[in-house]
Amino acid sequence: MEIVIAGSPRKGMYSDRFAQAWCDETGAELIYARSVNVGPCHGCGWCKGKGNGKCVQKDDMPEILEKIRKADRLTIFSPIYWWQVTAQTKLILDRLYPISEDEWKGKVITVVMNGAAEDDDKEFELLKAQFQEMADYIHADLRFLGVGTEDDAHFEKSLEKVKALAKEA
Ligand SMILES: Cc1cc2nc3c(=O)[nH]c(=O)nc-3n(C[C@H](O)[C@H](O)[C@H](O)COP(=O)(O)O)c2cc1C
Repeated sequence: MEIVIAGSPRKGMYSDRFAQAWCDETGAELIYARSVNVGPCHGCGWCKGKGNGKCVQKDDMPEILEKIRKADRLTIFSPIYWWQVTAQTKLILDRLYPISEDEWKGKVITVVMNGAAEDDDKEFELLKAQFQEMADYIHADLRFLGVGTEDDAHFEKSLEKVKALAKEA
């Protein structure tokens, strides 16, 4: 089972199209970060103590957490905003905190990030290194792809790379 998070605020644009193509190939369930009611992590630590892996907030995240727990793959598509994921993506990333290291172990996390920069831009190296540290920390397996989507021509080339990675999954 695989869960895909699509993190763009822009409906039907490049990363949405990547995510849709990915799900067409893999049959994964697609969640649009902009469409769910997920607030910021309060940092209360309840999930790590009394909550025993549950989040104290009553929004859409508890249901998403259970789906991710059941999945062996989590795939995140996010446009790059200021050398980082979008705010919509970050809300969900922070709220993954209740999932323990033991639960992450063996899961495959794929991160596909797109930006206006060319494919060989340093920003992709920086982002990959950061996600690698995060994956190592929770003992998950990371796959990372950074691609340019400056315009439709760049998007079409990048879509081929995304589809190739989906086929490997
Ligand atoms: C606020 C903002 C910040 C951005 N920062 C970056 C950036 O740091 N690097 C980059 O390559 N592109 C940056 N971009 C461009 C977007 O990543 C690019 O337009 C991307 O194709 C949007 O993806 P989408 O079509 O899936 O929404 C930025 C765009 C916005 C609106």
